[in-house]
Amino acid sequence: MSQPIAFIDLGPQRDRVRDRIEARFKRIFDTGAFIMGPDVAELEEALSRFGGMSETLSCGSGTDALILPLAAWGIGPGDAVFVPSFTFAATAEVVAMLGATAIFVDCLPHTFNMDPDNLRLAIDEVRQAGKLKPRCIVTVDLFGQAADYPSFRVIADEYGLKLLSDAAQGYGATIEGRMIGAFADVVATSFYPAKPLGCYGDGGMVQTNDAELAAIMRSLRVHGSGTDRYDNVRIGMNARMDTLQAAVVLEKLTIFPEEIERRMRIAHRYTTALSDVVTPQALPNGMVSTWAQYTVRVAGGKRDAFMAAMRERGVPTVIYYGKHLHQQTAYRHFPAAGGRLPVSDMLCEEVVSLPMHAYLDEAVQDRIVAAVRESVAATA
Ligand SMILES: Cc1ncc(COP(=O)(O)O)c(C=O)c1O
Repeated sequence: MSQPIAFIDLGPQRDRVRDRIEARFKRIFDTGAFIMGPDVAELEEALSRFGGMSETLSCGSGTDALILPLAAWGIGPGDAVFVPSFTFAATAEVVAMLGATAIFVDCLPHTFNMDPDNLRLAIDEVRQAGKLKPRCIVTVDLFGQAADYPSFRVIADEYGLKLLSDAAQGYGATIEGRMIGAFADVVATSFYPAKPLGCYGDGGMVQTNDAELAAIMRSLRVHGSGTDRYDNVRIGMNARMDTLQAAVVLEKLTIFPEEIERRMRIAHRYTTALSDVVTPQALPNGMVSTWAQYTVRVAGGKRDAFMAAMRERGVPTVIYYGKHLHQQTAYRHFPAAGGRLPVSDMLCEEVVSLPMHAYLDEAVQDRIVAAVRESVAATA
């Protein structure tokens, strides 16, 4: 058996930025500014420039980044928040934590992102039932690909809803050259280490052009602080990002655009070489994805055998997601659009992700491509 391949390898990137991060760490150790140090403010400014939004708040995680805007908008019991079901738990968890009701929406079979028509159905159903107040749409940029923001912006405006982007996987993705912040009211992301833009611990960020909302979120981030942190004007939380993590993101941000280009090139090679044997997540024209995951569909109940054949060839694969949220014990009592989510059900049976990171060289990509083709043939 040949040399095993890593699913995600953070080593080559760490080697590129190590000296600069260590220099920042040394300064932070020397000054002791571990909380809200100068690197935090520097990062927030750099991210505002990168994301094209006037207000940026760093925070403790991608989950914090979702809670802060929802809480600042006062979303809670009696409110309906529309979320895709084919996503990571945090997207709906924050809604339930605030006492609001998550309404699950199906996704599209080719992009795997939320289906605008199914969202309309879900909103109409909630309005007709008259028990909950529709308040917010949370879009997810699944596996790095921006959701269909032009459509979601129209729907949000038509129904008077907030549009929150859960860009934990897709921060940096663009549509016709425009960042997600050009469409969403708030963009939230995660800097979890395996994300395309990650730190070396937990971290996250929330962005908006709404200065008033940002001021409330800043207060919520530090225990509902008023004029200072011992003046508490609302119920908040501790959602700060620590200075060491800010230092890491600052340095990684300098190479992030180039890394997105690398990921685009790798994904393009995969898609060109594999589309006749599996069904890769489709990237519509004019879009740039950060390819947090490169995911294909293996149909006909053959996914387990396919994964075993890949393992035999030293290539790891992972299922994101084997159960969508409406199938999970904690979330199955929440409503689903039309009472059923057939595309999410199908994707959970078929999806499998291949190794993907910005430093995957062409020889390794070719080994992975060959393994996919052989594994499909072996399981035919
Ligand atoms: C779509 C999505 N939303 C939210 C999160 C939560 O981010 P964090 O783990 O930083 O809290 C994740 C993280 O995996 C995610 O993938």
